[in-house]
Amino acid sequence: MNQINATSDQMCFELPIFQANLGNSVLDASGFPVDFYFQDIGLKHTSFCQSAICYIDGSKGLLLYRGYPIEELCKHFQFESIMYLLLFGELPTSRTLKSFTKKLIKYRHIPDYCYSLLEHLPESSHPMGILLTLVSALAADSSQSLDDPDEMAIRIVAQMPILVALSQRHARTLKPVHQDSNDDSLGYVPDFLFRLFGQIPTEHTVTAFDQILTLHAEHEQNASTCTLRVSGSTGTNAYAALAAAITALWGPAHGGANEACMQMLEAIKTCDRIPEYIEKAKSKEDPFRLMGFGHRVYRSRDPRADVMKSLAKEVLDSKQDKPLFRLAPSLEKRALEDPYFISHQLYPNVDYYSGIVQRALGIENNAFTTIFALARTTGWMSHWLEMMRDKTPIIRPRQHYIGPRKRSL
Ligand code: SDX
Repeated sequence: MNQINATSDQMCFELPIFQANLGNSVLDASGFPVDFYFQDIGLKHTSFCQSAICYIDGSKGLLLYRGYPIEELCKHFQFESIMYLLLFGELPTSRTLKSFTKKLIKYRHIPDYCYSLLEHLPESSHPMGILLTLVSALAADSSQSLDDPDEMAIRIVAQMPILVALSQRHARTLKPVHQDSNDDSLGYVPDFLFRLFGQIPTEHTVTAFDQILTLHAEHEQNASTCTLRVSGSTGTNAYAALAAAITALWGPAHGGANEACMQMLEAIKTCDRIPEYIEKAKSKEDPFRLMGFGHRVYRSRDPRADVMKSLAKEVLDSKQDKPLFRLAPSLEKRALEDPYFISHQLYPNVDYYSGIVQRALGIENNAFTTIFALARTTGWMSHWLEMMRDKTPIIRPRQHYIGPRKRSL
């Protein structure tokens, strides 16, 4: 372990540098005196935990789940195996996969009050708000929480497909699809799609969703995972920490970008309007941003965007090709050739093609983020398990005070 000497006008101290297994070394600030701290707006340069789940190299466009490249995992595994890998650290054997999927079926049901709760939510509610309400109801019900963290995490990932399907159907004024929870004939993704669409999905649709969920499952300390960790560090129950993460994911700068991207493509409409929108995205006077472009970590292509783009092509070839779906590649090409996007290192991220693929598979725009939440619940629960194991202290950063000095009334 190396050392670094940090000096300021009064102090000088030695701080250990921790070598990461991959990527950047980190300076261990725990050696600072209690009243000395860094300011790092947006936490762009802050490592606030140790984790073994996911590694991103933003300059190389590398994304590893427990050491395996995302592109490889997408090609060879159904989503249940990815869930097991993220939650427990290794790919399952046929024996462990069998017992894991049995547990998913065992926990694949929700209390009746979730269904009656829906009747009181306006049908104009956004699916993410409905999902948040249902998860909050489970957070309020202590009988839903399990003492064993592994069992708790499995129960939550098993319940999410039901909650997401309910949220989407209610927002489309459709009645719930009731499926015999003990019917083990359908795997995780087919069962979800049956509850969502009310019919047994084609193999092609199941394979596409396996990939969509794998691509969205985990992404180290993104805003929603960081929110889950902060919430979980206070000792709140897993459902409450999950609800916190869902609120963070909803925003258009994060998981809501796929919905915002589709709205953007619908506003641009035709290729001849691309230059106008590229200029809007570059203008400092215009708050408009190219949705689905740019990333806090990737300063090269987001590897998930490439997989999603080829999935879009595959799905679109099998559907009637609509002008909207021709627009996206043209807009991407123009942006990638523009000096502003090049100099700002702005590339398509996972959200750019995600909405196009999901729309082609029958998902409504405002429901895309619930699919993201369904996938990311596995990542969130993996971090929650890691926190429980590491007995993470409460996460409580400091601030740079710029308010009034002490004064009398
Ligand atoms: C996800 O963190 C994760 O891992 C998230 C995620 C995950 O899997 O969990 O990968 C999922 O959230 C992907 C990102 C989805 N969001 C969008 O597509 C929304 C559009 N993108 C931007 O809002 C933005 O790129 C962010 C929010 C994603 C990243 O913002 P940063 O890193 O804080 O960068 P910034 O806002 O400080 O911008 C830096 C510069 C600025 O220009 P300058 O003032 O320096 O000249 O880049 C510009 C910005 O104006 N910029 C853009 C832009 N994104 C950044 N300009 C136009 N269009 C954009 N999309």
